[in-house]
Amino acid sequence: MEHIISIMVSCMVILFTGIVYGAEVDKDTGLLIAEHWETVRNNCTECHSAKLVTAQRGDRKTWTDIIRWMQATQGLWDFDAETENQILQYLSSNYAPQARGRRGPIPLLLMPPNPYKDEAKK
Ligand code: HEC
Repeated sequence: MEHIISIMVSCMVILFTGIVYGAEVDKDTGLLIAEHWETVRNNCTECHSAKLVTAQRGDRKTWTDIIRWMQATQGLWDFDAETENQILQYLSSNYAPQARGRRGPIPLLLMPPNPYKDEAKK
């Protein structure tokens, strides 16, 4: 009995933290609900699923490049400066590059001696 209660309490805690800390997502598009998300929904889901947007990560430069590419080749319309700024702000803060799984390089001090270091001089 105690066991069941402790499992139930754990479930409630998990559920509760999910509600409090879980980012809210629009159920129709899957877009994170954050400042300017509606501008993105209105401009970025006409031709393709929002999943194409949410699957992508990038800084402001990457997102700008993607938009320029669609404008140049896929018939995406031009935005006024304010709209474009809102779109880029939303995308680069909510769909920013994520930390990669790769570890950083080993410090030189910890590396074994390089057996080829004189090769280049030959
Ligand atoms: C006028 C139509 C149109 C609109 C509007 C549009 N796109 Fe696209 N987008 C495309 C097409 C076409 C593709 C290529 C689809 C494919 O490869 O299947 C694409 C591809 C993409 C990709 C994938 C790029 C890649 O490298 O694979 C992303 C990300 C994207 N769009 C984001 C956006 C964002 C953000 C917006 C709003 C600013 C937007 N799209 C609005 C037409 C559009």
